[in-house]
Formats: sequence, C-alpha cells, structure tokens
Amino acid sequence: MQDYYAARAAEYDRIYAKPERQPDLRDMEAWLPGVFADRQVLEVACGTGYWTQFYAPATAGVVALDGAVETLRIAERRLPDAPVRWLQGDAYSLPVADRAFDGAFAGFWWSHIPLERIDAFLQGLHRTLKPGARVVFIDNLYVPGSSTPIAEQDSAGNTWQLRRLDDGSTHRVLKNFPSREALLAAVAPHARISDYRAWTHFWALSYSLAG
Ligand SMILES: C[S@@+](CC[C@H](N)C(=O)[O-])C[C@H]1O[C@@H](n2cnc3c(N)ncnc32)[C@H](O)[C@@H]1O
Repeated sequence: MQDYYAARAAEYDRIYAKPERQPDLRDMEAWLPGVFADRQVLEVACGTGYWTQFYAPATAGVVALDGAVETLRIAERRLPDAPVRWLQGDAYSLPVADRAFDGAFAGFWWSHIPLERIDAFLQGLHRTLKPGARVVFIDNLYVPGSSTPIAEQDSAGNTWQLRRLDDGSTHRVLKNFPSREALLAAVAPHARISDYRAWTHFWALSYSLAG
C-alpha cells in the first residue's frame, strides 16, 4: 500500500478533480474547520495534505503523519506557513506521546485498514488522545460509475481494487466500503457520542472519545 501511494504521490490530487464530487467536497471542506477549532490535532495518513489545508489554520496545531515521504513533501510545499508538523511514521504504531491531542482526523484511511486490524488501529490512535477528544474519519461511499470497481473480496471480507498509474503499473489495493452500522459498531466501545453523515460520494464518522 505504501509503495503504491509513494508511486502515486504526484498524481494523487487528481482524485479531487472528479467533477461529480465537487459539491460534496466543498461542503466537507467548509464543515471540517469548525470541528477542530482551537484543538491540537493528530492527522493520520495525511497524504498530500489536501484536507489539512482546510482545517489546520483553525487549530491550535497539527501533527500530520504519513508513511510516504513522497506525499509528505507535496504536503509541506502546499502548506509552508500552516501550524503543522509533518511526520513520517506508521499509522499502526504512532510515534507520538500518549494523551497529547484533543483532536484526530483521517481522510480516506479507514477504507485501507484491513477489517481485522481496525480495533487495534483505533486503540493505538485513542492512546494518543485526551478524554473527550474529537475524532473524525471521512471516506468514500461506493458509487457505481464513479468509484473504481471492486475486483475481489477476500476470506476476511476485505474488498480489493485494481488501480492503474500513469507509468502503466497496476496495483491491487485494499479498499473497504463500510456501512453506517459497521462504522458505529466499531467505535461504540470507545466513543461517547457518535455521528454518521453521508453525502452523495462520501461519509463522515465523528465522535468524542470516552473519558
Ligand atoms: C488514500 S491516501 C489518503 C491521503 C489523504 N489523507 C487524503 O485524504 O487525501 C492514504 C494514505 O495513507 C498512507 N499510508 C499507507 N499506509 C500507511 C501506514 N501504515 N502508515 C501511515 N500512512 C500510511 C499513504 O502513503 C497515503 O498517503
């Protein structure tokens, strides 16, 4: 997965140019800053910083982590003056202190977590957060004709796509499309209030971490 995103870094932001997704994107971009106003936010799998650019100016500070230096370099260039510390690291072993943040954000990351690793990922993320921290995940809904078709489903229930890059290489990429019920059930053991929103092409799960 990380090799795929390292190779895709330069062409990554094209995904945000799909015409049919523009109204949803504008709405989500306007919504996020209010959620994280004045909070110390940990962003996991920040990629090229597409989402960071909208909410970071409203925060008290952001640590934005990604596994790929290639995407982090683009993010740094995009936001030279934002209150963001860019960090290379592994989402499953977050290299930050316990209880350091009162906000957490991950865009288009949940869909890439193997189903069998979701709970361990959430436990690792929550370790870095203070009680009451606000957490937001956003990701894709599967929309026929707009989404890349699902090529296969494995025995654990994970779904996989075949994606082609400009250099002609083809990559088998994990991409899950969880239901509202599955998302709420995954965070229920950890969350105080949880909320699910859906647009035409995207979903957002937000909750406050239990104390
Ligand atoms: C779909 S992209 C999302 C990027 C960005 N959040 C966005 O919404 O535009 C997934 C990102 O996860 C990163 N990634 C993949 N595996 C990772 C891991 N184990 N730890 C940290 N980042 C990882 C990739 O480098 C890539 O930037």
